Amino acid sequence: MSGYHIGRPNWLDPNFYPSEECIIKGVDNDHVLFLDVGGGMGDDVANMRLDLDIVIGDFFQEQQIKGARAYFLHSVLHDWPNKQCQMNFHQLKTAMKPGYSRLLIYENVLPEQNPSWKMTALVIIMMANAGGIERIENIWKELVEASGLEVNGIWTADGNYESVIEIVRNH
Ligand SMILES: C[S@@+](CC[C@H](N)C(=O)[O-])C[C@H]1O[C@@H](n2cnc3c(N)ncnc32)[C@H](O)[C@@H]1O
Repeated sequence: MSGYHIGRPNWLDPNFYPSEECIIKGVDNDHVLFLDVGGGMGDDVANMRLDLDIVIGDFFQEQQIKGARAYFLHSVLHDWPNKQCQMNFHQLKTAMKPGYSRLLIYENVLPEQNPSWKMTALVIIMMANAGGIERIENIWKELVEASGLEVNGIWTADGNYESVIEIVRNH
């Protein structure tokens, strides 16, 4: 994953996802601010001089952290078929506080036509190696809506497919 991150825009870069506006503003300090689900940092987190905790869990089981402001999934769902994505969404939806929590999916959102060769190659790699897939916008929306959640917006850095899909629970 370290190699995968090299040279790609970061979702916190200016002119990408408005995290200040969408996450920081209106935050309730009685709840967890941010949960990186499937973050893959392991014990490395303990060495960071930040106010971070490691939470060990299986994202197909009940989510222990309830009512966080943001649940974040980067390059996790493209490893999985639709059925497992929905199992994951179900657990996160149950933990989300309606009207407050955000689910941020940070993944490639492919165009319906003329994706780059790099993206079509990645589709094949994900299918062959993990039984997963890179998805187009409509498929992401269908997956989210079938889980009873709603897509609030999609942000993409210029010239890139990797996008932040912001999802809310209204009920
Ligand atoms: C492709 S890596 C992405 C890691 C990280 N989000 C990043 O962008 O570098 C997928 C991550 O999902 C985690 N993972 C896989 N199955 C999981 C499960 N059932 N519950 C929690 N995490 C899981 C793996 O440990 C790994 O860290």
